[in-house]
Amino acid sequence: MGYNVAIDGPAGAGKSTIAKRVAKEKGFIYVDTGAMYRGMAIYFLEQKISPDEKEEIAKACQNAEVSIAYEDGEQQIYLNGKNVTALLRKEEVGKMASISSAIPEVRQKLLSLQRNLAKEKDVVMDGRDIGTNILPDADVKVYLTASSRTRANRRYLELREKNVDCNLDEIEREIIARDERDMNREIAPLKQAEDAILIDSSDLSIEEVTEKILELCK
Ligand code: C5P
Repeated sequence: MGYNVAIDGPAGAGKSTIAKRVAKEKGFIYVDTGAMYRGMAIYFLEQKISPDEKEEIAKACQNAEVSIAYEDGEQQIYLNGKNVTALLRKEEVGKMASISSAIPEVRQKLLSLQRNLAKEKDVVMDGRDIGTNILPDADVKVYLTASSRTRANRRYLELREKNVDCNLDEIEREIIARDERDMNREIAPLKQAEDAILIDSSDLSIEEVTEKILELCK
Protein backbone atom coordinates (compact mmCIF):
# COMPACT_ATOMS: atom_id res chain seq x y z
CA MET A 1 0.00 0.00 0.00
CA GLY A 2 1.34 3.42 -0.93
CA TYR A 3 1.11 6.51 1.25
CA ASN A 4 -2.21 8.07 0.27
CA VAL A 5 -3.29 11.69 0.54
CA ALA A 6 -6.94 12.35 -0.40
CA ILE A 7 -8.09 15.87 -1.22
CA ASP A 8 -11.77 16.40 -1.88
CA GLY A 9 -13.88 19.49 -2.28
CA PRO A 10 -16.05 21.50 -4.64
CA ALA A 11 -14.99 22.88 -8.03
CA GLY A 12 -12.63 25.82 -7.88
CA ALA A 13 -11.43 25.37 -4.30
CA GLY A 14 -7.86 25.03 -5.57
CA LYS A 15 -7.55 21.26 -5.22
CA SER A 16 -5.45 20.58 -8.28
CA THR A 17 -3.01 23.46 -7.75
CA ILE A 18 -2.50 22.47 -4.12
CA ALA A 19 -2.44 18.72 -4.75
CA LYS A 20 0.24 19.18 -7.42
CA ARG A 21 2.40 21.19 -5.04
CA VAL A 22 2.03 18.72 -2.21
CA ALA A 23 2.87 15.86 -4.57
CA LYS A 24 5.96 17.66 -5.82
CA GLU A 25 7.22 18.42 -2.30
CA LYS A 26 6.70 14.83 -1.18
CA GLY A 27 7.87 13.17 -4.40
CA PHE A 28 4.44 11.53 -4.73
CA ILE A 29 2.34 11.06 -7.85
CA TYR A 30 -0.51 13.49 -8.42
CA VAL A 31 -3.72 11.81 -9.56
CA ASP A 32 -6.45 14.11 -10.92
CA THR A 33 -9.63 12.00 -10.87
CA GLY A 34 -11.76 14.82 -12.33
CA ALA A 35 -9.68 14.47 -15.50
CA MET A 36 -10.76 10.83 -15.72
CA TYR A 37 -14.43 11.85 -15.58
CA ARG A 38 -13.66 14.45 -18.21
CA GLY A 39 -12.01 11.75 -20.36
CA MET A 40 -15.20 9.66 -20.19
CA ALA A 41 -17.23 12.78 -21.01
CA ILE A 42 -15.24 13.29 -24.22
CA TYR A 43 -16.32 9.85 -25.34
CA PHE A 44 -20.02 10.63 -24.74
CA LEU A 45 -19.69 13.91 -26.64
CA GLU A 46 -17.93 12.13 -29.51
CA GLN A 47 -20.84 9.70 -29.63
CA LYS A 48 -23.19 12.71 -29.88
CA ILE A 49 -24.99 11.70 -26.71
CA SER A 50 -26.63 14.56 -24.85
CA PRO A 51 -26.17 14.91 -21.06
CA ASP A 52 -29.79 14.03 -20.30
CA GLU A 53 -29.64 10.66 -22.12
CA LYS A 54 -28.71 8.72 -19.00
CA GLU A 55 -29.32 5.25 -20.40
CA GLU A 56 -27.30 5.97 -23.50
CA ILE A 57 -24.42 7.16 -21.34
CA ALA A 58 -24.60 4.06 -19.15
CA LYS A 59 -24.51 1.85 -22.23
CA ALA A 60 -21.73 3.77 -23.96
CA CYS A 61 -19.51 3.25 -20.90
CA GLN A 62 -18.77 -0.29 -22.05
CA ASN A 63 -16.84 1.09 -24.99
CA ALA A 64 -14.91 3.85 -23.24
CA GLU A 65 -11.55 2.87 -21.77
CA VAL A 66 -9.76 5.59 -19.85
CA SER A 67 -6.16 5.17 -18.76
CA ILE A 68 -3.45 7.49 -17.51
CA ALA A 69 0.24 7.95 -18.08
CA TYR A 70 2.81 10.52 -16.99
CA GLU A 71 4.88 12.61 -19.37
CA ASP A 72 7.43 14.96 -17.81
CA GLY A 73 5.57 14.47 -14.54
CA GLU A 74 2.26 15.68 -16.02
CA GLN A 75 -0.76 13.38 -15.96
CA GLN A 76 -2.01 12.47 -19.42
CA ILE A 77 -5.44 11.02 -20.07
CA TYR A 78 -5.90 8.40 -22.76
CA LEU A 79 -9.32 7.56 -24.14
CA ASN A 80 -9.36 4.29 -26.07
CA GLY A 81 -5.64 4.66 -26.66
CA LYS A 82 -5.73 8.28 -27.83
CA ASN A 83 -4.25 11.12 -25.77
CA VAL A 84 -7.15 13.54 -25.10
CA THR A 85 -5.44 15.68 -22.45
CA ALA A 86 -5.59 18.86 -24.55
CA LEU A 87 -9.40 18.63 -24.73
CA LEU A 88 -10.14 18.09 -21.05
CA ARG A 89 -10.59 21.69 -19.93
CA LYS A 90 -13.17 22.62 -22.55
CA GLU A 91 -16.38 24.05 -21.13
CA GLU A 92 -18.66 21.46 -22.77
CA VAL A 93 -16.47 18.65 -21.46
CA GLY A 94 -16.70 19.97 -17.89
CA LYS A 95 -20.45 20.30 -18.18
CA MET A 96 -20.84 16.76 -19.52
CA ALA A 97 -18.50 15.40 -16.82
CA SER A 98 -20.46 17.13 -14.09
CA ILE A 99 -23.69 15.45 -15.23
CA SER A 100 -22.40 12.05 -16.37
CA SER A 101 -20.39 11.53 -13.17
CA ALA A 102 -23.69 10.93 -11.34
CA ILE A 103 -24.32 7.79 -13.38
CA PRO A 104 -23.30 4.60 -11.52
CA GLU A 105 -21.80 2.88 -14.59
CA VAL A 106 -19.49 5.84 -15.15
CA ARG A 107 -18.24 5.81 -11.57
CA GLN A 108 -17.88 2.02 -11.54
CA LYS A 109 -15.71 2.21 -14.61
CA LEU A 110 -13.15 4.49 -12.91
CA LEU A 111 -13.21 2.99 -9.42
CA SER A 112 -10.61 0.25 -9.85
CA LEU A 113 -8.33 2.46 -11.94
CA GLN A 114 -8.23 4.94 -9.04
CA ARG A 115 -7.87 2.33 -6.29
CA ASN A 116 -5.12 0.45 -8.09
CA LEU A 117 -3.04 3.58 -8.56
CA ALA A 118 -3.17 4.27 -4.83
CA LYS A 119 -2.37 0.68 -3.98
CA GLU A 120 0.81 0.63 -5.98
CA LYS A 121 2.13 4.13 -5.40
CA ASP A 122 2.42 7.06 -3.02
CA VAL A 123 -0.23 9.44 -4.31
CA VAL A 124 -1.96 12.72 -3.75
CA MET A 125 -5.38 12.09 -5.28
CA ASP A 126 -7.97 14.81 -5.71
CA GLY A 127 -11.66 14.55 -6.51
CA ARG A 128 -15.05 14.50 -4.83
CA ASP A 129 -15.30 11.06 -3.20
CA ILE A 130 -11.70 10.04 -2.58
CA GLY A 131 -11.76 10.22 1.23
CA THR A 132 -15.31 8.91 1.54
CA ASN A 133 -15.41 6.19 -1.08
CA ILE A 134 -12.28 5.50 -3.14
CA LEU A 135 -9.64 5.55 -0.38
CA PRO A 136 -11.47 5.33 2.96
CA ASP A 137 -8.18 4.36 4.65
CA ALA A 138 -6.10 7.21 3.21
CA ASP A 139 -3.28 8.36 5.51
CA VAL A 140 -4.30 12.01 5.21
CA LYS A 141 -7.72 13.32 4.23
CA VAL A 142 -8.43 16.94 3.47
CA TYR A 143 -11.70 18.62 2.56
CA LEU A 144 -10.70 21.79 0.76
CA THR A 145 -13.37 24.39 0.20
CA ALA A 146 -13.93 28.12 -0.27
CA SER A 147 -16.99 30.32 -0.60
CA SER A 148 -18.75 30.17 -3.97
CA ARG A 149 -17.96 33.87 -4.52
CA THR A 150 -14.25 33.30 -3.94
CA ARG A 151 -14.24 30.31 -6.27
CA ALA A 152 -16.15 32.19 -8.94
CA ASN A 153 -13.79 35.11 -8.63
CA ARG A 154 -10.73 32.90 -9.12
CA ARG A 155 -12.27 31.39 -12.23
CA TYR A 156 -13.24 34.86 -13.49
CA LEU A 157 -9.66 36.12 -13.14
CA GLU A 158 -8.34 33.00 -14.90
CA LEU A 159 -10.69 33.56 -17.85
CA ARG A 160 -9.97 37.28 -18.00
CA GLU A 161 -6.28 36.47 -18.11
CA LYS A 162 -6.99 34.43 -21.24
CA ASN A 163 -9.06 37.33 -22.64
CA VAL A 164 -12.27 35.30 -22.45
CA ASP A 165 -15.40 37.40 -22.16
CA CYS A 166 -17.22 36.38 -18.96
CA ASN A 167 -19.55 37.44 -16.22
CA LEU A 168 -18.85 36.90 -12.52
CA ASP A 169 -22.47 36.29 -11.49
CA GLU A 170 -22.96 33.78 -14.26
CA ILE A 171 -19.80 31.91 -13.28
CA GLU A 172 -20.96 31.82 -9.66
CA ARG A 173 -24.36 30.45 -10.67
CA GLU A 174 -22.68 27.70 -12.70
CA ILE A 175 -20.41 26.83 -9.76
CA ILE A 176 -23.37 26.58 -7.40
CA ALA A 177 -25.23 24.35 -9.88
CA ARG A 178 -22.20 22.06 -10.09
CA ASP A 179 -21.90 21.88 -6.30
CA GLU A 180 -25.57 20.94 -6.05
CA ARG A 181 -25.21 18.14 -8.58
CA ASP A 182 -22.09 16.78 -6.85
CA MET A 183 -23.52 17.03 -3.33
CA ASN A 184 -27.00 15.70 -4.03
CA ARG A 185 -26.38 12.74 -6.30
CA GLU A 186 -27.24 9.33 -4.96
CA ILE A 187 -23.94 7.65 -5.60
CA ALA A 188 -20.74 8.86 -3.93
CA PRO A 189 -21.91 12.44 -3.30
CA LEU A 190 -19.43 15.15 -2.43
CA LYS A 191 -19.17 15.48 1.34
CA GLN A 192 -16.53 15.84 3.98
CA ALA A 193 -15.39 12.46 5.32
CA GLU A 194 -15.77 12.20 9.09
CA ASP A 195 -12.02 11.95 9.54
CA ALA A 196 -11.11 14.62 6.98
CA ILE A 197 -9.51 17.92 8.00
CA LEU A 198 -11.50 20.91 6.77
CA ILE A 199 -9.51 23.68 5.14
CA ASP A 200 -11.28 26.80 3.89
CA SER A 201 -9.00 28.45 1.35
CA SER A 202 -11.08 31.66 1.00
CA ASP A 203 -8.56 33.72 2.94
CA LEU A 204 -5.45 31.59 2.56
CA SER A 205 -2.72 31.68 -0.06
CA ILE A 206 -1.72 28.64 -2.10
CA GLU A 207 1.49 28.46 -0.06
CA GLU A 208 -0.41 28.53 3.24
CA VAL A 209 -2.75 25.72 2.23
CA THR A 210 0.13 23.63 0.84
CA GLU A 211 2.06 24.14 4.10
CA LYS A 212 -0.94 23.01 6.19
CA ILE A 213 -1.30 19.80 4.20
CA LEU A 214 2.43 19.07 4.27
CA GLU A 215 2.24 19.48 8.04
CA LEU A 216 -0.54 16.84 8.13
CA CYS A 217 1.66 14.45 6.15
CA LYS A 218 4.41 14.42 8.76
O1 C5P B 1 -12.62 18.38 -10.79
P1 C5P B 1 -13.17 18.50 -12.17
O2 C5P B 1 -13.96 19.75 -12.41
O3 C5P B 1 -12.14 18.29 -13.23
O4 C5P B 1 -14.18 17.28 -12.31
C1 C5P B 1 -15.09 17.18 -13.38
C2 C5P B 1 -16.39 16.58 -12.86
O5 C5P B 1 -16.18 15.22 -12.48
C3 C5P B 1 -16.93 17.26 -11.60
O6 C5P B 1 -17.88 18.27 -11.96
C4 C5P B 1 -17.56 16.15 -10.80
O7 C5P B 1 -18.95 16.07 -11.05
C5 C5P B 1 -16.92 14.89 -11.32
N1 C5P B 1 -16.03 14.22 -10.37
C6 C5P B 1 -16.59 13.27 -9.54
N2 C5P B 1 -15.79 12.56 -8.69
C7 C5P B 1 -14.48 12.77 -8.64
C8 C5P B 1 -13.88 13.76 -9.48
C9 C5P B 1 -14.71 14.48 -10.32
O8 C5P B 1 -17.79 13.07 -9.55
N3 C5P B 1 -13.71 12.02 -7.82
